[in-house]
Amino acid sequence: VEIAILGTGSVGRALAGRLAGLGHGVTVGTRDPQATLARAAPGPMGAPPFRDWAAAHSAVRLATYAEAASGADLIVNATSGAATLAVLEAAGRDNLAGKVLLDISNALDTTRGFPPTLLMEGTDSLAERIQAAFPDARVVKSLNTLTAALMVEPGRLADGEHTVFVSGNDAEAKGVVSGLLKSFGHTDVIDLGDITTARGQEMWLALWLRLMTALQTPMFNLKIVR
Ligand SMILES: NC(=O)c1ccc[n+]([C@@H]2O[C@H](COP(=O)([O-])OP(=O)(O)OC[C@H]3O[C@@H](n4cnc5c(N)ncnc54)[C@H](OP(=O)(O)O)[C@@H]3O)[C@@H](O)[C@H]2O)c1
Repeated sequence: VEIAILGTGSVGRALAGRLAGLGHGVTVGTRDPQATLARAAPGPMGAPPFRDWAAAHSAVRLATYAEAASGADLIVNATSGAATLAVLEAAGRDNLAGKVLLDISNALDTTRGFPPTLLMEGTDSLAERIQAAFPDARVVKSLNTLTAALMVEPGRLADGEHTVFVSGNDAEAKGVVSGLLKSFGHTDVIDLGDITTARGQEMWLALWLRLMTALQTPMFNLKIVR
């Protein structure tokens, strides 16, 4: 499968590296590939510049959002939640039509410091905004509930049996995403229901952020015991 990962941050890198390792064709999308490769300063949280990561992952291509999306069968949104709708517009409506769109973003408002708040909540979610804005895309919300390293390598926790979720209106699209999650090593994937169920996944961030502070690490996850 040809996969476009929109986003060059820690989530985009984790997904791109893991999917390429599993044998998928992967193109990472960014605003301006030249500018992204020219950046020499470390990113947020001291992440190495993208070019260093790219040099160690030569099978992964870098392109504009539109170029990446046009050649892909499946698209992953790993961009800043505040920028997501603009990024998807730049990726091109026609390039999203009919395709599975795995949305990992969190709609964080970071303008007032820590902890960030959510740009929408309660009776709304970013995943619903995406589905409404791009009705022909098959949006599946998943993986926004845990840190990037654990998204693609759940076994890094001593108890690797923890839980991830899928939300979306298209059962077949959720099946495709669940298959990818299982290929990463996830064993407990709960289908929450239609795209409105993404609200719960997105609002979990309020507790996730406080847990990260309390535990002094992002290396934890939910395990739904029943
Ligand atoms: N980090 C985690 O562990 C984690 C866990 C769960 C969910 N998430 C969510 O996953 C998403 C990605 O997180 P991240 O930490 O990897 O990276 P991030 O810093 O949140 O986002 C980086 C990406 O957003 C793009 N971007 C930022 N502002 C933009 C703008 N104004 N216009 C167009 N594009 C813009 C950047 O484009 P360029 O490439 O052009 O610079 C870059 O590709 C976020 O929504 C985050 O909340 C993150």
